[in-house]
Amino acid sequence: MIHQLSNEYYVRGLRVADLHGPYTTWFEDQDVCRYNSHGKFAKTEEYFKVFFDHLNQEDRLVWAICHHADGHIGNVSLQSISVIDHNAEFAILLGDKRHWGKGVGTLAGRKLVEHGFNKLNLERLYCGTAATNHAMRTLAANLGMTEEGTRRKHLYLEGEWVDVIEYGLLKDEFLALSTVWLNTSSYTCTATQ
Ligand SMILES: CC(C)(COP(=O)(O)OP(=O)(O)OC[C@H]1O[C@@H](n2cnc3c(N)ncnc32)[C@H](O)[C@@H]1OP(=O)(O)O)[C@@H](O)C(=O)NCCC(=O)NCCS
Repeated sequence: MIHQLSNEYYVRGLRVADLHGPYTTWFEDQDVCRYNSHGKFAKTEEYFKVFFDHLNQEDRLVWAICHHADGHIGNVSLQSISVIDHNAEFAILLGDKRHWGKGVGTLAGRKLVEHGFNKLNLERLYCGTAATNHAMRTLAANLGMTEEGTRRKHLYLEGEWVDVIEYGLLKDEFLALSTVWLNTSSYTCTATQ
């Protein structure tokens, strides 16, 4: 399964070969992990293998975000997929910092949101991020998500307690938005340098 996002970027399922590329190093990069729970403990090869093997269980979907020249640059995922409640948690990480701020997070996110509602029959997607993670908060807004609440002092980051802002998107809201996403080219990736 490959979805083209632009001339330069596409998403595809995570592959076992990705475990031997740059992927595992992203979780040691303190800039990439600044606003999330990674980057605190060193993880072994076995950890990533277990994570990958779990993908067959259908409660988690991980797509590799790829650039035509630079290869695997990040992951976007739906996790804790519930077949009872028809909801899932949205998560995204661009490990290759050269590709930040070029619109690829928004494009990959929208494609996975579309997949979640139209293919997986979900009714609700949600995510939470550090109040200080302005890129992720703007991305959540770009995905049409509504701010639903605050988990006070939920994360300990860089020596400080930080609130987590919770976001949600319902299928009806997505359906109204997806027409806009399809009919406008308001979100295109800027060229890589
Ligand atoms: C969060 C992340 C996925 C965003 O991806 P991205 O491809 O850089 O995002 P986009 O280029 O689509 O930009 C989304 C919006 O955020 C804005 N933005 C990007 N970086 C920003 C920054 N450092 N500060 C403030 N706003 C920023 C963009 O201008 C854009 O806003 P616009 O649509 O109004 O122009 C990426 O920065 C990342 O992976 N960070 C590290 C991991 C992480 O924090 N993941 C989320 C954990 S909850």
